[in-house]
Amino acid sequence: MSETNNKAEANLRVTTSGDIEVSTYLEIAKEMGGEQPAVAEEAVGGGEREAIVVIDFGSQYSLLIARRIRECHVYCELVSHDTPWEKIASLNPKGFILSGGPAGVYEPGAPLALPYIYESHLPVLGICYGMQVITKQLGGRVSPGTKREYGYAILHMSDVDSPLFAGLEDSMPVWMSHGDKIDEIPPGFKTLAYTENSPFAVIGNADEGIFGLQFHPEVAHTPQGKAILKNFAYRVCGCQGNWTIGNFITESISIIKEQVGDGKVINALSGGVDSAVVATLIHRAIGDQLTCIYVNNGLLRREEVERTFNVFRLNMGMNIVYVDATERFLNRLKGVTDPEVKRKAIGDEFIKVFEEEANKIGKVDFLAQGTLYPDVIESAASGSTASAKIKTHHNVGGLPARMKLSLIEPLRYLFKDEVRQVGLGLGMPEEMVWRQPFPGPGLAIRIIGEVTSEKLEILRSADFIVMNEIKKAKLYGQLWQTFAVLTDVKSVGVMGDYRTYGYLVGLRAVTSDDAMTADWARLPYEVLARISSRIVNEVPDVNRVVYDITSKPPSTIEWE
Ligand code: XMP
Repeated sequence: MSETNNKAEANLRVTTSGDIEVSTYLEIAKEMGGEQPAVAEEAVGGGEREAIVVIDFGSQYSLLIARRIRECHVYCELVSHDTPWEKIASLNPKGFILSGGPAGVYEPGAPLALPYIYESHLPVLGICYGMQVITKQLGGRVSPGTKREYGYAILHMSDVDSPLFAGLEDSMPVWMSHGDKIDEIPPGFKTLAYTENSPFAVIGNADEGIFGLQFHPEVAHTPQGKAILKNFAYRVCGCQGNWTIGNFITESISIIKEQVGDGKVINALSGGVDSAVVATLIHRAIGDQLTCIYVNNGLLRREEVERTFNVFRLNMGMNIVYVDATERFLNRLKGVTDPEVKRKAIGDEFIKVFEEEANKIGKVDFLAQGTLYPDVIESAASGSTASAKIKTHHNVGGLPARMKLSLIEPLRYLFKDEVRQVGLGLGMPEEMVWRQPFPGPGLAIRIIGEVTSEKLEILRSADFIVMNEIKKAKLYGQLWQTFAVLTDVKSVGVMGDYRTYGYLVGLRAVTSDDAMTADWARLPYEVLARISSRIVNEVPDVNRVVYDITSKPPSTIEWE
């Protein structure tokens, strides 16, 4: 397998959650408080639910496998290849998938499947490196390939009756990415499909329920890949498909009730999707035992506070403590121009405000936060804690040690799209569920240079126009993020008979799947023209608009 393993590098990038920063402050607080998270590990991972377990050999696609399986309504978790059986057993596995990975199985020290995988007699599907692991461990032969096979190939089935292929045409495009090759399949196995360059593109021992795929079924480039994974889960492993959002909600509510008892929970509401779903789910479970603290740091967008407040307090009837800390934050940001110093200042101030408010509530037992599965996996993979991760990117401090709270993280095992589904399942407004991510430090990192209330107002006005036009053009949902940036560049313009000297506003619109990489959006010229013309006409002090046409990398999504 010759794919690049760029996880270590990826770990330095910020996660995709819009409100991750808030939740991370709180996680840091938890760590500094010295008490270990009382997270119900079984919150979603355990119990009697059937599961497919992905054994991770380090492929950049491993998490995608778990996503695809869950899309088939079968619960799936990704675990490191050296995870002990006891942990796996608690998941009630119905089968294993061995992921791809960057190593070669013949290399000394290459990771292999632990014996329990074969001894369990549960079905196994090896993908790419995972298939080579199976081949090597069960008596076949793998050698380093002289030629790398990368890209599309046409798969031809030689055994159309294999359960893996049920309902599929007998040839289909698949995505290959491997260097090593199988010279000899293990005894008891047969070839189920081939491609021009891979005589053993799919192999299997149907009696044992062990299969191998040379290609990647989990990537979008293999259009029928999900059907193959679904066949494995349903037809080979015998899964029923009981992983549904409705079940998740019901189950989580009863777990939260049990965990909290008559304790009190606090949650920092940020207006982002994750904290909003966490709050709604917990509120559904324990009602008024939950108090949300909503800190207005003065760096939010126009109408943001009102909208968030209306939804949670008026529509949902939640206990909300609202704090307008605008002045504190602006004072703290006086004279600050360095982006990381800004982040740190905002983080520190947030923690102070949060602690003061939490203290006013009296005795609190739990802290709810919107940690998502990719964050959990990322921390585990990098061996870092969330605080280490956030400090590399956001440079924030922690809550004082005296705040001792246990954590509740009901979304800990969910992907972002599942979180949105939970939000919809809980009856949250679509507008809130489908919000684009918004960074914790807010507009402060979209004002280049010092943040002042005048500049914030200019940016709010420009941002409001951008959002308005993007929504009117029905582009909002297709874009990962869309926003205006107020630069500290001033340029000369002319308006009527007058010379102007005003600010330059940058417009940023990107498409992305996960914020790790992003491409600038090819917005229609008419939309760009409308945004530009409205900004220069409606926002005083701005006389020029430019569109950012750089991708990430090498740029980042935010300008600071
Ligand atoms: P970059 O700019 O690194 O951003 O490409 C990737 C994603 O993370 C968001 N972002 C942040 N979110 N605190 C946050 O909560 C931050 O300090 C921060 N910086 C960037 C950014 O909006 C994008 O979605």
